[in-house]
Amino acid sequence: MKSISTGGTELWCVDRGQGLPVLFVHGFPFDHTMWAGQIDVISSQCRAIAPDLRGFGRSRKGDRANLCEAPSGPFRQTGPVPFSAATMDQFADDLAAMLDALGIDEPVVYCGLSMGGYIAFQFWRKYADRLRGLILCDTRAVADAPEAADARRVMADRVLAEGPGPLVEQMLPRLFAEATRQKRPEMVEALRRVMMANSPEGIAAAARGMAVRPDMTAALGQIRCPTLVVVGQEDAISPSAEMHGIAEAIAGAKFVEIPAASHMSPLENPAAVNAAILDFLATL
Ligand code: MLT
Repeated sequence: MKSISTGGTELWCVDRGQGLPVLFVHGFPFDHTMWAGQIDVISSQCRAIAPDLRGFGRSRKGDRANLCEAPSGPFRQTGPVPFSAATMDQFADDLAAMLDALGIDEPVVYCGLSMGGYIAFQFWRKYADRLRGLILCDTRAVADAPEAADARRVMADRVLAEGPGPLVEQMLPRLFAEATRQKRPEMVEALRRVMMANSPEGIAAAARGMAVRPDMTAALGQIRCPTLVVVGQEDAISPSAEMHGIAEAIAGAKFVEIPAASHMSPLENPAAVNAAILDFLATL
């Protein structure tokens, strides 16, 4: 991993391989290790870049410095941005600054899971000319309903008071397919450790940021870059039917359903996800 300094924020990322840059953006509350099964394979043909977003993984260093304050300037969100919220917009700016610091000015393929997909929509909105392709994994275009946004804020406060435990216990059972939970408990436990190791401040900031993320449904028809939509067949968080709707709304998008997988499809069935990604990359 290497450390990148961007305007006072220190981000860590894996940067492996050569050629077309493929940016892997993790979900919430994980880190770059969720892409381990992709990085090895894709970096044999491309340049795989997998950051820990600010406040997560190794980028939690100096938590306070890496915490997000509401950025100034106009941006379209569903409500006021609370103090110490990491907006999807802010994460997208971080990624653009990280690419600059890495000297990458050619358009990249952006691959994001769930929160990484929420950020993908903001990256597209602000930096469309930096995109060669978009891979949306197990994500949603809709904003949180008001009750869901409130529940996130309550959970953010709880995590700050009690640590990541309550969030992890709530999320973990929904992240994996039944068969994964039964047959591969070590995978579930490894993700639990990643989630528990993240800082309460980083988790709370991202949760608050997701609570105010904009609804991107109406914008899907404006996405012009080649797009692949990938979803675990048993995903209960970003259901297959909803992701199929996302693919239908984006002109020319390809839709791939991953068998024997739920929300963590890149971890649960890396072979099928890698095949979908490699097929897509071959079309670019
Ligand atoms: C994720 O995997 O990033 C989360 O499920 C996103 C969310 O909580 O909406």
